[in-house]
Amino acid sequence: MRKPLIAGNWKMFKTPAESIAFLNEFLPLITGHERDEVLLFPTITSLAAVLQATAGTTVHAGAQNMHWLDEGPYTGETSPVMLAAIGCGHVLIGHSEQRLYFGETDERVNLKLKAAIHHNLTPIVCVGEHLAQREAGHTETVLRIQLRAALRDISSHLTQNLVIAYEPVWAIGTGKTATPEIAAEAHTILRHELAQCCDPAVAQRTRILYGGSVKPDNIASLMAQPDIDGALVGGASLIPASFAALVHYS
Ligand code: PGA
Repeated sequence: MRKPLIAGNWKMFKTPAESIAFLNEFLPLITGHERDEVLLFPTITSLAAVLQATAGTTVHAGAQNMHWLDEGPYTGETSPVMLAAIGCGHVLIGHSEQRLYFGETDERVNLKLKAAIHHNLTPIVCVGEHLAQREAGHTETVLRIQLRAALRDISSHLTQNLVIAYEPVWAIGTGKTATPEIAAEAHTILRHELAQCCDPAVAQRTRILYGGSVKPDNIASLMAQPDIDGALVGGASLIPASFAALVHYS
């Protein structure tokens, strides 16, 4: 019922030319693959090129971030209207690197999620605990608070396209993947929270991705967990053969 979603987060890597070179190698490797949805998040200057190069394929592309307002005097920002205008249909919200280095807050995640819904962009909302929070036994509380804050004042019927990404901060870019059991436990917490703060139908239909050092050799054991509906992949999505291997997990 929940179609698996394998998403690549390219972070601050790949110029337009490098992005096209990636796609020229990658697209033939996944031709005809229908089991999973495939999504790429290039950096903003490569987004238009990736959207163009993937038009008519099964691969979608989205933005790594956006402002919540339509326009205004906000130097350096991109609005949902601008993303929609270039045919972008997806947006990453609240990635831990935005939270950690650029002051992203739960309040702004909520504003961005509302804006994404308003502009018909599919939102992928990231949540996850830091190592110190996990070691202090606060993981469940942190996840519940982040998810509840993201969804504040949003009616359940508006969450049709919502995607959540559980990304434990200690696993991002560190090579320390959460074990399938640790990830599954967090996903179950998030699904319970969705049932409580929205309703059971939302919990049932919302895809929850795992992210944090997902690699071709560990994706299958993660995807085998019933509550894990996909992966958000950083480093291993930068190389065509490696991202194709992730898409073809078995
Ligand atoms: P990683 O990044 O796969 O390189 O750990 C994941 C992410 O930040 O989304």
